[in-house]
Amino acid sequence: MSGNELSGTTALVTGASRGFGRGIATALAGAGAQVIGVARDRGALEELRGELGGSFTAVVADAADPMVAGALVDRWRPGVLVLNAGATPLPRPIQHHTWETFSRNWDVDVAHVFHWTREALLSPLAPGSTVVTLSSGAALFGSPFSGGYAGAKATIRWLTAYAAEESTRAGLGIRFVSLLPQLTPETALGAVFAAAYAARDGAAAASSRGGAGPALTPENAGQAVIDLVTGNAYDRDAYVLASAGLRPLP
Ligand SMILES: NC(=O)c1ccc[n+]([C@@H]2O[C@H](COP(=O)([O-])OP(=O)(O)OC[C@H]3O[C@@H](n4cnc5c(N)ncnc54)[C@H](OP(=O)(O)O)[C@@H]3O)[C@@H](O)[C@H]2O)c1
Repeated sequence: MSGNELSGTTALVTGASRGFGRGIATALAGAGAQVIGVARDRGALEELRGELGGSFTAVVADAADPMVAGALVDRWRPGVLVLNAGATPLPRPIQHHTWETFSRNWDVDVAHVFHWTREALLSPLAPGSTVVTLSSGAALFGSPFSGGYAGAKATIRWLTAYAAEESTRAGLGIRFVSLLPQLTPETALGAVFAAAYAARDGAAAASSRGGAGPALTPENAGQAVIDLVTGNAYDRDAYVLASAGLRPLP
């Protein structure tokens, strides 16, 4: 996309080096935002900087580190904050997880959403700011091959709803919205699970986990975030994300 709906806006995206985060960072830059992309893979961030030019600033850091969350919220005070970073769980049945592998997405995904959400509320970000978090369709349907992933992603959904409530109660004017994407083979994380479920259940059953219609792409995720941030029609605190777009949770 190209436009200027978000010119003058600073957007910060965690996990911008690949997958949905990269698609979201690209869409936000295309809409005119100044984008700060946080991830650990310097080479991938520099490649994205080469693509997006001066509208993209790469920050090589661990998004689950509370010091990183505090320092970057203070420094950039983003008008759009996308908390997308997430670990890829080991694809194994439950009895083959250890507590450490089971809880990986709590230590990365949930901890990072917790730290950044807290900073957004306490800072506070400016009225009219939007914080988008990446939960998962697994929060609704489970994900039996990924240990504590589904529970961690359900917690992100609720944490985001609690933050929305606190923002309203304190009159902060900060919007908090969680997205629950369907499983897709179009990203590194999704490809691992699409392959694992296909090996266990067969290709047809595995692809039905991704819902009907074409597979969700990073570009779809980018467009959905632009729609959320710039459209007036999206006033709920959680949406299922599919290639067809956003569907509010009941
Ligand atoms: N793909 C799906 O089917 C699917 C479905 C539902 C929900 N989701 C969620 O959507 C989000 C994005 O997933 P994806 O499919 O795009 O995965 P992906 O392709 O594996 O990308 C994950 C991103 O998170 C970053 N990351 C991981 N740990 C990090 C950390 N500690 N600090 C900073 N960055 C970190 C990675 O960057 P570095 O390695 O460079 O740090 C990478 O940019 C995740 O939260 C995931 O759970 C995905």
